[in-house]
Amino acid sequence: MTAQLIDGKKTAENIRSALKSRVAALVAKGVTPGLSVTLVGEDPASKVYVGAKDAAAKETGITAWTHRLPATVSEGELTEHLIKQNEDPAVHGILLQLPLPSHLPSEKLLDLISPKKDVDGFHPISLGNLMLGRPGFRPCTPWGVQELLRAYGLSPEGKHVVVVGRSNIVGKPVANILIQKEAFANATVTVCHTGTPDLARYTRDADFLIAAMGKPEVITGDMVKEGVVVLDVGVNRIKSDKTKSGTRLVGDVHFESVSQKAAWITPVPGGVGPMTIAMLLTNTVRGAEAALAEKTVAAAGPTATATVR
Ligand code: GUN
Repeated sequence: MTAQLIDGKKTAENIRSALKSRVAALVAKGVTPGLSVTLVGEDPASKVYVGAKDAAAKETGITAWTHRLPATVSEGELTEHLIKQNEDPAVHGILLQLPLPSHLPSEKLLDLISPKKDVDGFHPISLGNLMLGRPGFRPCTPWGVQELLRAYGLSPEGKHVVVVGRSNIVGKPVANILIQKEAFANATVTVCHTGTPDLARYTRDADFLIAAMGKPEVITGDMVKEGVVVLDVGVNRIKSDKTKSGTRLVGDVHFESVSQKAAWITPVPGGVGPMTIAMLLTNTVRGAEAALAEKTVAAAGPTATATVR
């Protein structure tokens, strides 16, 4: 079998273009969605990501602010800055770009972000809501994986999904999304990680394989079965004598061998990657919609309620 490609770039473009009418409807009601992004320091990859988020937000009609703080910023100053974003009614989504310089306590700072504006979905309340199957913000990359499956009509319902990697950003939340009793989920999920002996024993049984361990090309053709659906979350830069720059991007999956056996596969780049920003923008619009609903509820009286859906 030779795999068909799951095109994340095109799917993300479709999602972003559909968002524009939701943004227009909000603007017509006096609410322009606002995204506040904070970048601390000069990490080159983070600078690229933050620039892409800012440009994509603006292109969708979302107001975006990028706050660039020096690597020497203190925990107190950053705390004060984040609280200001929480309190600003024009801001519906707050993103603190990771990694932070090592003197700053990432978890403590992420916990300061109001769950009502947690468009990254990293807050313990957002992750708790996800685990419990309650409405709330879901982390963007795992949610993007589910939306890619939905876009291609590839339902994991009743199938064996094997997730390789247990990060808080991808592995754990994607497993939690795909076990939910809902459309494009309801799967039997196995999570493998660095403590799993004989990884191939699990990956060979996968109907859907989600590779998210951050190691270049470790899932090879001999580790998967015919007809598997492969979602490669890895983005790794490796040396190459075939490019001018001397490097190239590869996933966690060895594309050449795995695509010989898979039914569907995401390329790297152009697979899961572009979905992250599309879902971030979707979360920001949902935050603005919830803020508008809350305003409407407040105007309607004390017994009404509103929540992020
Ligand atoms: N660094 C790399 N990816 C991400 C992301 O999705 N969100 C944040 N906040 N930082 C990141």
